[in-house]
Amino acid sequence: MITTLRGKDYLTTQEWSTEEIDTLVDVSHDLKRSFALGSPTRLLPDKTLFMIFFDKSTRTRNAFEAGMTQLGGHAHDLTPDVMQISHGESPKDTGIILSRYGHGLAIRHDLEPGAGDSYMREVAQHADVPVINLQSDVDHPTQTIADLMTMREKFPEGLRGLTIAVSWAYAPSYAKPMSVPQGLIWLMTRFGMNVRLAHPPEYTLMSHIVEDARNNAAASGGSFEIVHDMDSAFEGADIVYPKSWGIEELFSRPEEALAISARYRDWICDERRMGLTNPHSIYMHCLPADRGYEVTDEVIDGSHSVVYDEAENRLHTAKAIMALTMGGKGGPAEHA
Ligand code: CP
Repeated sequence: MITTLRGKDYLTTQEWSTEEIDTLVDVSHDLKRSFALGSPTRLLPDKTLFMIFFDKSTRTRNAFEAGMTQLGGHAHDLTPDVMQISHGESPKDTGIILSRYGHGLAIRHDLEPGAGDSYMREVAQHADVPVINLQSDVDHPTQTIADLMTMREKFPEGLRGLTIAVSWAYAPSYAKPMSVPQGLIWLMTRFGMNVRLAHPPEYTLMSHIVEDARNNAAASGGSFEIVHDMDSAFEGADIVYPKSWGIEELFSRPEEALAISARYRDWICDERRMGLTNPHSIYMHCLPADRGYEVTDEVIDGSHSVVYDEAENRLHTAKAIMALTMGGKGGPAEHA
């Protein structure tokens, strides 16, 4: 267990060591147990987190706001339209000012490839409090840590040797960010799992992340492969995580993107495909899911599905991230 995470930014899981990631999950389990027992966990009394959402959110927003209350502090729920960001105030000035008022900054900026991660890094460069990525164009590390926690709960004998299929699925609603599948292949290749990424040829992920995933898998004794067929990804899988994402070059051209995605309407997680997986397999999704497109009701409401436990774990892991980075060192942290 690592006890020196105070002040550390949480921008991607790849920048945290495996021991640090394991610490996050350990502490999340402790906080989950306390929550179930009704035991107080006022680890951040009088502390303030500023959350800035450039995009919509249900789980992330409410997990962090409720989590901050349960830790004894307060989270400000902000959007650019109520801030001077909408008049062009720089990430540097926003980061410096808000970090003088409080103890942590958290940002969701995920809809524009090339924009969110660099925005957060510029804020973090100038803020003297931890910056938490609530989903960028590159990673969704507060989601994937909850996914890791959920997988460990469902497979208590360990993840090594298990096969996970991270698959594209069709959704007509909008071009969803690439950060969840990218975050999954980044993180899950670090634990000796066999990670299969499946997508139609157009839906490639960012090349540096794919490269890291290959290296992570080699270092952890697992494997990483890319296939262009959903059935072969599901064959014998222990965990399936089918969801939609957009084409990197087409986020600003939604009509073109929609025309391409319509060719792949049959990329749906249904009972036939679940029948290809191992009998004990679990179905995961970060939510929101496009029911009837990405997944059938029978699957998401069926016996393989763990989506509500997965969503609940967003709360416990959010609290662990905040408590470890904004608190620590033998007691409630003073603002440095
Ligand atoms: N999974 C997830 O990030 O959900 P929200 O978009 O509702 O926060």
